[in-house]
Amino acid sequence: MMYFKADIFYMLIFCLRPISCGRGQTYEVTQIDTIDIPGNLVETSSRIIGRDSTINGTWEFLEEVNDDAKMEIGIFVDTAKNGDWKPRALKPPVLGVCTSLKRYFNSYIKKSFITGVTTDFDFKNGDLCPVPKGKSWIKNVILDTDKWMNVMPTGYVKVQISFTKDNVFGGAFAVIVNIENKSS
Ligand SMILES: *[C@@H]1O[C@H](CO)[C@@H](O)[C@H](O)[C@H]1NC(C)=O
Repeated sequence: MMYFKADIFYMLIFCLRPISCGRGQTYEVTQIDTIDIPGNLVETSSRIIGRDSTINGTWEFLEEVNDDAKMEIGIFVDTAKNGDWKPRALKPPVLGVCTSLKRYFNSYIKKSFITGVTTDFDFKNGDLCPVPKGKSWIKNVILDTDKWMNVMPTGYVKVQISFTKDNVFGGAFAVIVNIENKSS
């Protein structure tokens, strides 16, 4: 329940001044918190900073990974914002890490993770495989939510990316966003 630590603070600061993370969408999306759950494959260290509530931090692959390691995306919603998270029934397929990068690069990754600008990680346009062992930084990241926010309810939405290998949990990262209808 780590997200509670920042709830009140971010509600006060950012609901007065919500930012829009995309153009032409009918929702305003504000990143409110991140959760780092380190494992033996991936370790992240992240936080939300600044008045535009961007993500800053690092991620580290503790070993080289390929499609033997799987990436699972979980989506949870807390419409009433009372901590009662409900998993969304519709789940993206669990895919190998390399396959995931290839599949999601154009739609979800490339606008937010720009090599040399918002990260030192090079996705090689989605063709990166294997993913090398090592640590990378990210800064000023606003996730590209254009493609999926209009199918989400308003309230809190948590997107968790978990890594597994041989069915063993290897670490996870989650971001919580607040979705509001646009007032104007
Ligand atoms: C954000 O991350 C960058 C790159 O790691 C770092 O230089 C900067 O100090 C960080 N900013 C804050 C406020 O932590």
